[in-house]
Amino acid sequence: MSARINRRKRIGILTGGGDCPGINAVIRAVAKKAIHDYDMAIVGIEDGYEGLVHDRKRKLENRDVSGILTLGGTILGTTKKVNPYRYAVRKGSDFIYKDMSKTCVRNFRKYDLDCIVVIGGDGTLGIAYRLMKDGIPIVGVPKTIDNDIIGTDRTFGFDTATWIATEGIDRLHTTAQSHHRVMVVEVMGHNAGWLALSSGIAGGGDIILIPEIPYRMEAITEKVRERNRKGKRFSIVVVAEGAKPEGGSVVIQRMVKESSDPIRLGGIGFVLGDQIEKATGIETRAVVMGHLQRGGSPTPFDRILATELGSLAIDLVVQKNFGYMVGVRKGGFVKVNLKDVAVGHRTVPLNHPLIRTAESIGTSFGR
Ligand code: F6P
Repeated sequence: MSARINRRKRIGILTGGGDCPGINAVIRAVAKKAIHDYDMAIVGIEDGYEGLVHDRKRKLENRDVSGILTLGGTILGTTKKVNPYRYAVRKGSDFIYKDMSKTCVRNFRKYDLDCIVVIGGDGTLGIAYRLMKDGIPIVGVPKTIDNDIIGTDRTFGFDTATWIATEGIDRLHTTAQSHHRVMVVEVMGHNAGWLALSSGIAGGGDIILIPEIPYRMEAITEKVRERNRKGKRFSIVVVAEGAKPEGGSVVIQRMVKESSDPIRLGGIGFVLGDQIEKATGIETRAVVMGHLQRGGSPTPFDRILATELGSLAIDLVVQKNFGYMVGVRKGGFVKVNLKDVAVGHRTVPLNHPLIRTAESIGTSFGR
């Protein structure tokens, strides 16, 4: 009995979904605080829920998390393909789907864990909510370059991705100017326009297209022509991968059948580039920022945010506040019920001050 009372708490940690800069900073903060302040044992589950299904884990000591603050990616590995409730198993050229959630709960118990800190986006946290209901105490940490998680104004990774996209737009400016071209730059963001909006404004984009505001081709070409008339012989168009024309649909790059969120967006930049060139007669080139936005070292802002969120996650663990995600609201930190996070994704409100600001200085949203 006394051995049980004195037992060290054992915390699992898992990273799911697309990687982003700052994940390792969270892992480091969680592990350091848990080990130093509370003498907890940390178990790293490998490759997201894949590791929980297939029993792949390793103990994380202080030395494993030391020196990883600046490191991009995730030392634990991740996948976007695994949903334990709909686990894809290849059968010939197709897949069959199995419910492996009970295996996850079994492995959780086998590891003798008290809870799992799940670092993930809306999909990963939605699964976390289901696992929570099925018996795994979970604390969530919001992660994504898309900044689209309900319940938090900010996700770590977004600042870094904005910075990288802005750097790209800056570089395209000079070549657009030299060649008197239209440069279309496609940025990520899934079905939300946060990344296009922020990097578009920071990079001085002349036209910013986001999924929340379906665009009209005539509005885009008119803006390009107007700039030319005024002696600006180049234009920069920043387009979110999820942008679509009025009455039209998104451009899909590929379907990943085995993923619970199978649609991979991409390609709108090239479609738009061709259309702009045809309509205006101005030479146009398209560039896709793609996964560059997810790679490399996090910005100081993301390192700090990730460290704060990781530290707060351990506070929730200590208080046994399971079933919550740590989040940012109006400049402060909050805990958000995973139930409320799991309902969808956070888009840019049409009355967002940044849209007004951009339009007030002549930026077009193609409407
Ligand atoms: O959610 C992060 C994100 O980078 C999105 O912006 C993008 O739509 C998607 O992931 C790309 O997914 P993948 O890494 O599977 O190509």
